[in-house]
Amino acid sequence: MAIFLDSSDPKEIQDLFAWGCLSGVTTNPLIIAKEQPDAVLSDVVKAILAVSWGDVSVELTTENEKDMLVEAEEYCAYDPKRIVIKVPMSEHGLRVVHALTKKGVKTNVTCLMAMNQAYLAALAGATYVSIFSGRVRDMGYDVRPVIAATRDVIDREELDAKIIVGSMRHIMDVNEALEAGAHVPTITPPILRKMVWNPRTETTIEEFNSAWRNRGKKK
Ligand code: E4P
Repeated sequence: MAIFLDSSDPKEIQDLFAWGCLSGVTTNPLIIAKEQPDAVLSDVVKAILAVSWGDVSVELTTENEKDMLVEAEEYCAYDPKRIVIKVPMSEHGLRVVHALTKKGVKTNVTCLMAMNQAYLAALAGATYVSIFSGRVRDMGYDVRPVIAATRDVIDREELDAKIIVGSMRHIMDVNEALEAGAHVPTITPPILRKMVWNPRTETTIEEFNSAWRNRGKKK
């Protein structure tokens, strides 16, 4: 089990990695466009690598096979051991995953909404298959059976792929993804911070601190 951070913001990443709970980062073009609209992608990736550890998933922005392989090579050069090439699911995508797998490059097949897609990605050699919880739910479907069925087929056929569940909207999405069989929830900074907090924890800590501050004083 592991938790990845779904962010491209080096400040947030550095701050949250200091908790010691995280073991990787996932990004996508939408996250980077929103968080750092003026940044150069290569600078963003290098900054993320500098303030984190573990696997860093970087999504391809090109759309044909030849360009995707060139783009993948460029990202891998930043840190071949830690860079994971995030490949959007498609026929081109599967061919790219197959080619990268043969070269020993780690891949994360993304934008998955169904078990059948995840199964194909795992068979093609994907290191990770990313199921999008919030987007499945946006369509009106329960994502838990998708995660559970994907975990079943991966375990039964002894495939190497690990299931990332992203597109989290609430803390409950994280809990349900883990219960359904996700190997790695990838969580946005706001949801991760909410996971720490509990009102009863706060009042309990305040009760203890206040008792300590007021020790020895007569009531
Ligand atoms: C995960 O790898 C994805 O980058 C991300 O979680 C997608 O989330 P969204 O549905 O909020 O765009």
